[in-house]
Amino acid sequence: MATAAAPLSIGPITVDPPVVLAPMAGVTNVAFRRLCRRHGGGLYVSEMVGARGLVEGDRRAAFKAAFGPEESPRSIQLYGVEPFEIRDAVELLVDDGDEGGRVDHIDLNFGCPAPKVTRHGGGAALPWHIGRLAAIVTAAVEAAGDVPVTVKTRIGIDDDHVTYLDTGRVAQDCGAAAIALHGRTAQQRYGGHADWTTIADLVEAVDIPVLGNGDIWEAGDALEMVARTGCAGVVVGRGCLGRPWLFRDLEAAFRGRPIPIPPSLGEVADMLADHLDGLVELFGEDVAVREIRKHTGWYLQGFPVGGDLRRRLNQVGSVDEFATLLAGVDRSLAFPEEVRRAKRGHTTSARKVPVPHGWLEDREEADWDLARLAPEAAAVVSGG
Ligand SMILES: Cc1cc2nc3c(=O)[nH]c(=O)nc-3n(C[C@H](O)[C@H](O)[C@H](O)COP(=O)(O)O)c2cc1C
Repeated sequence: MATAAAPLSIGPITVDPPVVLAPMAGVTNVAFRRLCRRHGGGLYVSEMVGARGLVEGDRRAAFKAAFGPEESPRSIQLYGVEPFEIRDAVELLVDDGDEGGRVDHIDLNFGCPAPKVTRHGGGAALPWHIGRLAAIVTAAVEAAGDVPVTVKTRIGIDDDHVTYLDTGRVAQDCGAAAIALHGRTAQQRYGGHADWTTIADLVEAVDIPVLGNGDIWEAGDALEMVARTGCAGVVVGRGCLGRPWLFRDLEAAFRGRPIPIPPSLGEVADMLADHLDGLVELFGEDVAVREIRKHTGWYLQGFPVGGDLRRRLNQVGSVDEFATLLAGVDRSLAFPEEVRRAKRGHTTSARKVPVPHGWLEDREEADWDLARLAPEAAAVVSGG
């Protein structure tokens, strides 16, 4: 049986237990972070925010970069392809005078496999151009001052274009406080299994803390990942979709306590209602009831609630209607163990990764004008 890990240090921030909520576009907004945080300790990262949008004063980017008053530490993930954009965005984020208050941690996205991102040299395509990677991390670290900057990446673009070890060394040399590795290439998207041996390789290769990511579906997986790879902490994504209580289990596991009994349907329904409350506070009722629809299926996965209720929840038009529908469920139903490891969220399997023409041939070429090529980052919602 694995032993619990030590607290994780990200610059001046102590993360105890060493658990990080993965940035997930369209999911890890204030409402979801608050709900997860209520269940256990850890670092709760924002959705990905486009650096360019932030700098240009885009309303949606600013909205995504906002934090609740009780959120501490404030952790944000930035996406960008040009060092100057990242520098400007980081300066805004760490500015004491900023209306929203300053952030405490900045993560840089070098793992997004979405075609509309890689096609422009961003996300998981970017580390192939190691000089640009170094310039971006350096710009972020210099602008961040005492706010720690971390890097999140994948194994590489595909099996022929592996970047994670170089990325780790560059991140370390340029002053990043930690690096998170999702054990898949961009080509793999979310298919197959994450290769945890790459996480162990990265732990060997660098001295900064390595965070392991990929396929932690239940608390035991996190302990196993730490034991097998030596990583300093874990990043949990899809495992907590519809299961904010996974953070309670993770805390128990890392503290060596028994894993609590999973919630009954009644408790799950209460969490779903809480989630909707948080979304209403954030977006107002109309948007919130649309937003909650994507979560409902994840919360109710495996519970025998019937197709009719699922359908009606998927078309729900108001908070009152949602509450009425949930009031009809059998609150005593036990959690369906058979779905514990069932995949949720992104499940897309392997597909070729589009990159700018000539990108793979000339790794050293520094003159790519990605600012011109890059999409409006704020419109990127498919994440990493
Ligand atoms: C809905 C969704 C949105 C995501 N958005 C982001 C993102 O904005 N930034 C990022 O670095 N990764 C993003 N990811 C990837 C996750 O952070 C994580 O690396 C990946 O899901 C693997 O971890 P898991 O197996 O625990 O889910 C996203 C994943 C999902 C499922």
